[in-house]
Amino acid sequence: MPALPPHHASLLATYGFGLFPLPSYRPVELGDWRVRVHLPSRGDGYLATQALESRAVLTRAGKVWMCTGLLEQESHAWHVHCARGTVVVAGLGLGMYAYAAAMKPEVEHVIVADLSPEIIALMQASTDFERWPCREKLTLIEADALSEDFARRVAEACSGQTIDYLYADIWPNFPADEAPAQTAAMVRRLQPKAAGWWGQELALAYACRARGVPLDADALAAWFAEQGVPLPPVSAGYVDFCRAVGAAYGCDRPPSPWARMSARIKAWTARR
Ligand SMILES: C[S@@+](CC[C@H](N)C(=O)[O-])C[C@H]1O[C@@H](n2cnc3c(N)ncnc32)[C@H](O)[C@@H]1O
Repeated sequence: MPALPPHHASLLATYGFGLFPLPSYRPVELGDWRVRVHLPSRGDGYLATQALESRAVLTRAGKVWMCTGLLEQESHAWHVHCARGTVVVAGLGLGMYAYAAAMKPEVEHVIVADLSPEIIALMQASTDFERWPCREKLTLIEADALSEDFARRVAEACSGQTIDYLYADIWPNFPADEAPAQTAAMVRRLQPKAAGWWGQELALAYACRARGVPLDADALAAWFAEQGVPLPPVSAGYVDFCRAVGAAYGCDRPPSPWARMSARIKAWTARR
């Protein structure tokens, strides 16, 4: 079993779920996509944490899409924890989530969809994909997760199996405004038992702050129901994690008058 990242033990002890093993990367270029491996430097976490880390960085035409640093590890941790049975992943990227999910004994099959054939080839060349320990559990498909055809492509790849967890991560930034609605559209097509998207904790914290409600288990359940995304079983530790992510981005402080006014305008225009 590959080593777990250094922050694993403290995350597990505090929130009840930890980090996960990562594949090794080598620098590769294909079209306008590129993987670079950076020398160790200080990196911020998703929580109010920092690490001295070497990380692989994925760019497209010079724009950063993701890296394998602490922020990405902590923001993927809950979704790796939720992975079981048949898992569908929208967005391959560096294959970090796909690798971690497939390594879990309770995961049987991981179907990973990506729009870009270059990304699929790049990730395989950068990580020795064919030699991954759980390679046989993984199916990569070139597909648009937002297309009408997505459900058919996924059903073909998993022989119509019920999907236990859908993880959506197709955005270069978080929390992307369009992420909840796009995840809900994937949910309507794939009908997974549970689902989540990258950055959902911060989106929830912003929503609670804008509405002036406490971030607790009821707010989490109500907000997911409102988005049309089925929430997996949630622990008190996960609610604490959402609060800690919110606090790392200042959501534990009252919003400024400007933020309150802009939230009101947004809510008013959304209802029209
Ligand atoms: C940030 S990366 C995903 C990172 C991944 N979670 C990991 O662990 O390495 C986002 C990926 O989504 C892909 N993507 C963007 N739009 C997509 C779409 N509509 N359908 C499928 N894949 C998409 C991009 O090509 C990119 O590879």
